[in-house]
Amino acid sequence: MQKQPSKAQNATHTKILPKKILIFASENGSNFEAIAKHFQQKAFKDKVNIELLTDNKNAYAIQRAKRLNIPYFYVPFENLYDFLKPRARQYDLYVLAGYMRILPEKILNLGAVFDKTGKKIQNKFINIHPSLLPDFKGKNAIQQAFKANAEKTGITIHFVEKKVDSGKIITQKSTAAAGKTLAELEKSIHEIEHRIYPEIIENLLFKKNVLLFGGGAREHALAQKLLKSPFLDTLYLANPNDGFKRLGKTVKFPRTSNPAADYDTLAKNARALNIDLLVIGPENPLFEGISDIFQNEGIKVIGANKKWAALEGSKSFAKIFMTKNGIKTADYKILTDCTPEKIKETLDYFKAKSQTPPVIKADGAALGKGVYLPETFEEAEFETDKFLKGEFGEASKKVVLEERLFGKEVSLLSFWDGKTLVSFPPAQDYKRLLDNNKGKNTGGMGSFAPVKISVTEQKRLEEYQNALKTALLKENADFKGIIYSGLMLTKNGVYVLEYNMRFGDPETQVLLELLDTDLLYIFLKTADKKLNEIELKFNKKKAYCVVLASEGYPDSPKKGAVIKNLEAAEKYGCKIYFAGVKSVKNPAVQTYSNDTAALTVNGGRVLSIVKSAYGGKSALDSIYKTAAKIEFEGKIYRKDIGKIYGKKP
Ligand code: GRF
Repeated sequence: MQKQPSKAQNATHTKILPKKILIFASENGSNFEAIAKHFQQKAFKDKVNIELLTDNKNAYAIQRAKRLNIPYFYVPFENLYDFLKPRARQYDLYVLAGYMRILPEKILNLGAVFDKTGKKIQNKFINIHPSLLPDFKGKNAIQQAFKANAEKTGITIHFVEKKVDSGKIITQKSTAAAGKTLAELEKSIHEIEHRIYPEIIENLLFKKNVLLFGGGAREHALAQKLLKSPFLDTLYLANPNDGFKRLGKTVKFPRTSNPAADYDTLAKNARALNIDLLVIGPENPLFEGISDIFQNEGIKVIGANKKWAALEGSKSFAKIFMTKNGIKTADYKILTDCTPEKIKETLDYFKAKSQTPPVIKADGAALGKGVYLPETFEEAEFETDKFLKGEFGEASKKVVLEERLFGKEVSLLSFWDGKTLVSFPPAQDYKRLLDNNKGKNTGGMGSFAPVKISVTEQKRLEEYQNALKTALLKENADFKGIIYSGLMLTKNGVYVLEYNMRFGDPETQVLLELLDTDLLYIFLKTADKKLNEIELKFNKKKAYCVVLASEGYPDSPKKGAVIKNLEAAEKYGCKIYFAGVKSVKNPAVQTYSNDTAALTVNGGRVLSIVKSAYGGKSALDSIYKTAAKIEFEGKIYRKDIGKIYGKKP
């Protein structure tokens, strides 16, 4: 595989000043040595300067510094502030690695900045701690874990706060502890430390520019999450909506009738802006080959290439992939351009199998709406004919009829890097427009996660993921992105209803609430085919999302109404992610965020209201209070999000 030059390697061309880090160690200094060696590699020549500081003149770390030819300072603790104060501006990062002192606030403030909201944050002092915090804080953490017979322990890298071992966690990595001697445990912890600490420091020194493509609530949620990453330099947005464009810098995206040329222009702009990574929200750009175009330009991408986007773009391609690879999916027939007799004959095939009419699916992508669930065979006949005659344009000129399955429907979103598959907990979305799963199919009216599943279901889900992974490996699916499996958990096992090759909307809004691992870090690992090196950590909250839509959705939503009372969300502790909105200069109407413009309805799904909480349904109550308060003419939403449906056979 051709390796893309990292930003550090590129730096020669742009004449960036070398980064400077000060490593604090009191004793042994093995982490100091690992970090120093990492940055003494050729790739970082003239890019990173390291210095050592110790409060112990007998520290072995000093011997290491001498050996590695690294400048060192012996600074007694009581002189530390005076030493650092005049030099503070020189350093990009202060790295604590076995420094046995607690830093007072006055020193930590030397690494403090103000974030966008004016809040003071400390982002220059980091520490490594040999346990999975908050477990085993303080001294002798490895011994503590050993004595407690912990099943697993690990390491935590975190920003430093006044309170010991409590700052914002940057990353954690675990290792099995059970059955290991203390010496073995220490060895494996140190190995992890020496591998991960330099890598995290590199990411903090050479932050990444990210371009996020798409303008829905899903992208708003992704943008918000990416902004939390300490590894992010600048967030660029292509096609954001007016509700979240302030979160990043908008990159011009000229639209013509030639998508390939448009993406090519965008990729060239991205290259000029030093963008490191493209994250693609919606499916259409994937079908049109945006990933391939950016990759040719040398930019890393999260999103399937054109070939594999077909798992979503063509239901028949997906069906063939599944049947060929032993992945369970409903029995099906493909129809194109056929006579009424042929439709009837095909329906008779399903009738002979069961009394339930088959599901009708447009072969091509139809914004998640090209699925019809007929109640009778007569209806099935009529609708199949309508589909084939172009109900969804080209997308439904080929139709897949498939046996209807019954059970619990879940969405399983996974990251795939060409080698490793890692999934979120299962989520539930609500496709139908109306309560009790009635009405038309929509892009999604709400969601929640995680879905409660039994031990057997969990086991089956794992088996399914293994089967999917094996199939992707066998077919050499060498892309880096997302695979969304729409699954039915039936009494006969896990069946695939459909694949999407991007984050689900509105599932993403709830799943990101559960994710405690840094999203940009996951993306970077995915893009580098190193997903196996990290662990995804999920909290134990329950997250809900209710979509406010505009009357007439999904066919012809009303547009133009002013959206009012958005501040209700804050009152009830909810997040708002905007989708179909547009800001209109109109000082006469109520405004949002002290802006002189008002947000107005500009699409079917207008916004998502999201909240998560530990236990109970309190989050859902707050969401519904917010939903009732936010006002716009023609507001519609489902009142039954969170309710479990799923017919038994
Ligand atoms: C490491 O285990 C680190 O996690 C902790 O102190 C130890 C330092 O070891 N904060 P060394 O001095 O780097 O060998």
